[in-house]
Amino acid sequence: MLAISLAATVDRPDVLVLPVRAATEPVGAAPMLVTTAPPLIDEVRTEAAALLPAGRLTGRAGEALAQLRPGRTPGRLLLLGVGDGGDRAWRTAGAALARAAADETHVTLALPADATAGPVRALVEGLLLASYRFRATDAGEAPALTGVTLLAADPDAHRDAVEVARTTARMTRLARDLTNTPSSVKNPQWFAAQVESAAAGQPDLHLRVRGPEELAAEGFGGILAVGGGSASAPRLVELDWRPADARAHVVLVGKGITFDTGGISIKPVPAMKLMRKDMAGAAAVVAATLGAAALRLPVRVTTLAPLAENMVSGSAFRPGDVIRHYDGTTSESTNSDAEGRLVLADALAYAARELRPDLLVDLATLTGANAVALGKRTGALYSDNDQLAADLLAAVDAAGEAAWRMPLPADYLEHLGSDLADRHSSPDRGAGSVMAALYLREFTGELRDRWLHIDMSAPSWADGDDAELTRGATGWGVRGLLRWLATLD
Ligand code: BES
Ligand code: MN
Ligand code: ZN
Repeated sequence: MLAISLAATVDRPDVLVLPVRAATEPVGAAPMLVTTAPPLIDEVRTEAAALLPAGRLTGRAGEALAQLRPGRTPGRLLLLGVGDGGDRAWRTAGAALARAAADETHVTLALPADATAGPVRALVEGLLLASYRFRATDAGEAPALTGVTLLAADPDAHRDAVEVARTTARMTRLARDLTNTPSSVKNPQWFAAQVESAAAGQPDLHLRVRGPEELAAEGFGGILAVGGGSASAPRLVELDWRPADARAHVVLVGKGITFDTGGISIKPVPAMKLMRKDMAGAAAVVAATLGAAALRLPVRVTTLAPLAENMVSGSAFRPGDVIRHYDGTTSESTNSDAEGRLVLADALAYAARELRPDLLVDLATLTGANAVALGKRTGALYSDNDQLAADLLAAVDAAGEAAWRMPLPADYLEHLGSDLADRHSSPDRGAGSVMAALYLREFTGELRDRWLHIDMSAPSWADGDDAELTRGATGWGVRGLLRWLATLD
C-alpha cells in the first residue's frame, strides 16, 4: 500500500502538488490556489497562479494538470482540483492524484493552511483506494508511485485523520482482495483461513469457525442445504471484537456464497460469470470488524459469515425441498438460486437467539433486483427502525458510498406463504429485493425492530475505474460500517 507521511518541511521535492479550489460564486469567477502552510516560496506561487488561466483550469474535483520545470526544484508542479473543498471533493481529488502521479515515485502535497480532519481523511482514502490493484490479475501494472508526503505547518494535528484513513483503506482493500479472488481458490475453508490469519495474535479478537459437523449438531439447516452440493463443505465464521470498554454490542452478518451457480435452478451464462463476488457481504463485515479492532473502537462487534458454495450436483438441494433453520422454522425453497437468504436466515436466527445484541445489521449480494431498482452504485437499505436507518444512511453517505431506504410493506407478507413450510424462499411476485428483505426479517425474532439489512449486489462491483473505485470488487460497505461503528461509543 502506498506510504502516506506527514512533514513540516520537505527537502527538495521532485513533484509538488498544489490544491486549486473551484470558485462557484459569483458565476464565472476564477479558480484559486489554496493557501497552504507552510507558505509556498513566492516564485512557485506566482508560477502556479499563472498556470490557472493558461491551463484553463476550473478547479473541479478530479482535475489534474502537470507542469514540467526542467533543471529546477521542484521539477514538476501538479495542480489538483479540489472543487468546493468538501470531503467528497477531496476524496475525488485524492483518487485523481493517485492516477495523475502513477508514474512518479514520490510526490509532496501541500495541505491547505486550514485543513481539518474530514478533508485529510478523504484525501488519503481517495489516494489509497484509487491506487488499489488486485495482486493476481494486475501484478504487471503496479503503479510506480510508492509515497506521498503531506506538507503541513503542524503535522501532528493530522496524524489521527491519516491513521483512520489508512486503516479504513487497508480494510476496504482486504474486502476487495477477498471478493476479487477466483472461486477455485476461495472455497469456504479458504475464506475462514483468511479470517484466521488476519485476526491472529490480536488480543480481544476471538474467532470460532464451525464446520459441517457442528453446523449439523446445532441445527444450521439453511447453510447445510445450500452448501450440500459442493465438494467444499460450508463453514460459519464467528469473529468477535470484544474490547473491555465496549458500550454497545452490534452483530454484523454477511452473505458468504463463495460461488453461486444458482444450483439446480442454474443461472444462464451471463448471470453466472461474476458470481465469485457473491461473498462480498461477508468480506465487508469481516473487514469492518477487523477495522474496528485496529482502531480499537469501544463497541463490541460480532461478525457472522455463513460460507457456502452453491453448486449443481447429485447432493445439491432441490426446488421444492423443505429446509429447517436454526430457529426451528421451515422454508420451502422453490428456486435454489434464492440461496443467500437461506444461509442468512440461520445466521440471523442464531444472532437473535444466542447473541442478543443491541443492533443487528446484515449485508448481502442478495438480488439482481437491487440494480433494477437503484442502478449500479446504490445499495437498498431496509429497516423498521427510523433512527437506525437514518444513522446508517448518514454514515454510508459521509463515507462516500450510497444507499437508499426501501419499504417493507406489510401487505406483501402474504406472498411468503407456502403449502409445505412456514414460508416460501422465493415468491414469484416481483419486488425481488423487497421480498428478500421481508423474508429475512422473519428470522430476527425479538431484534426485529433493531435490525437493518442492505442488499448491496449492485454497488459491490464496478465495471470500470471511477474516482476511488477501481474496476472489479469495490469493498462496498466497509467504509460506511466503520464510520457508523465509530459513532456508537
Ligand atoms: N447472488 C444472486 C444475486 C445477485 C445478482 C448478486 C446479480 C449480484 C449480481 C442471488 O443469489 C440470486 O440469484 N438472486 C435471485 C433471486 C431470485 C431467485 C428470487 C435473483 O436476483 O434473480
Ligand atoms: Mn443465487
Ligand atoms: Zn447468490
